[in-house]
Amino acid sequence: MINALRGMKDLLFEDAQKYRYITETAAKIASNYGFDYMETPILEETPLFKRSVGESSDIVGKEMYRFSDKGGNDVCMRPEGTAGVVRAFIQAKLDRQQGQKYRFFYFGPMFRYERPQKGRLREFHQFGVESFGEEAIEEDFTLIRMLADIFDTLHIDYTISVNSLGCSACMPKYRESLVQHLHTLSDGLCEDCNRRIASNPIRVLDCKNEKCKEILEDAPRITDSLCEKCSEDFKRLVTLLEKSALKYRIDTDLVRGLDYYSGTAFEFVSENIGAQSAIAGGGRYDRLVEFLDGRPTAGVGFAIGIERIMELVTIPRKGREGIYMGAMIPEAVEELLRLAHEKRRSTRVTVEYKAKSLKAHLKGADRVGARYAVVIGEEEAQEGAVLIRDLEERRDIKIPAEEFATRESFFDD
Ligand code: HAM
Repeated sequence: MINALRGMKDLLFEDAQKYRYITETAAKIASNYGFDYMETPILEETPLFKRSVGESSDIVGKEMYRFSDKGGNDVCMRPEGTAGVVRAFIQAKLDRQQGQKYRFFYFGPMFRYERPQKGRLREFHQFGVESFGEEAIEEDFTLIRMLADIFDTLHIDYTISVNSLGCSACMPKYRESLVQHLHTLSDGLCEDCNRRIASNPIRVLDCKNEKCKEILEDAPRITDSLCEKCSEDFKRLVTLLEKSALKYRIDTDLVRGLDYYSGTAFEFVSENIGAQSAIAGGGRYDRLVEFLDGRPTAGVGFAIGIERIMELVTIPRKGREGIYMGAMIPEAVEELLRLAHEKRRSTRVTVEYKAKSLKAHLKGADRVGARYAVVIGEEEAQEGAVLIRDLEERRDIKIPAEEFATRESFFDD
């Protein structure tokens, strides 16, 4: 028997319903915030991720599904959505429309070769948004507000962490002072941290090792070294969050695992799902369009990990829906098919092709959760009629087949 690959899951029945419910809910809210739907390919050239997510990140360094295709191209299954959206943005020459704002949302599978565990898959799904051309910090606030709206609508509890990662004016100086400080601590730090001092020192602050955390307590924090612009922006963001009554905390250790961020970084965490508790993350990436050879364009976005919230979501109960159709004599099946085709213009219809007893059909209708069972027996066939059983109100009616084909409701009330 062939099974799905490790860390990859089928979406069946309730999970599939939840996936649709989550993406449809988020899409509706994103659209209300002025965002348009877009999709990008799952396969991209590997350098796209190297230059955006960054070679020193775990995602690019250790977790990429990377291979040569038959044409010898170095390609990669997307580990996240932002890089592809930015590539598409530049490829469509939208970066040349200076002063214009573009806002997109997308959803679909992402691939990271991680060690699978609860809440951590090798193929998982994200719902993401990306906003281009808006420098104002109000946009960062609005994205946090939108994420909160999405989780509130889905009845999911969360806490919000925010930080500023500085910009090209303040980050290099801070980086230098951090590296100096880290060198004095290197004996006590773990192997990963020591490697990162050279490659990506900011990520040292993100180390989950308890001993490292303790040693790093006094390390300089970027929020103390922000330039005037970043500092003003961060203060304004905090003011807007205060006034919005959203519950948030400033987390100066929040650095995010992707290299393209500058300025605002944020994460939403749920306390109800175990160790992999980040349910969404995002931030500003004002340099990324330029890194990928576009014209300088401000950018900010976020992505939700859909599998992580799946178990927290309950789909609103739907009652019985649609029609089940069945024949009691084989000669009536063709008529059933004709009528089903008519009704399918407006409602969900399931057809049983085998002639069965009324009792068997009522069972079948119950199994598919239909509101009505519509049956043709010998008597109905002769009369050109159908028998309709309302499975919710438990009542029957016999009406001419043509009336059934054209009427929206079958009982008079
Ligand atoms: P990220 O923080 O790497 O950000 O991923 C966003 C969310 O995807 C995480 O908070 C988590 O819920 C989910 N996630 C990540 N890895 C896994 C996994 N292995 N299994 C299950 N869920 C996972 C990004 O991907 C950025 N592109 C977000 C962004 C958009 N920033 C700006 N625009």
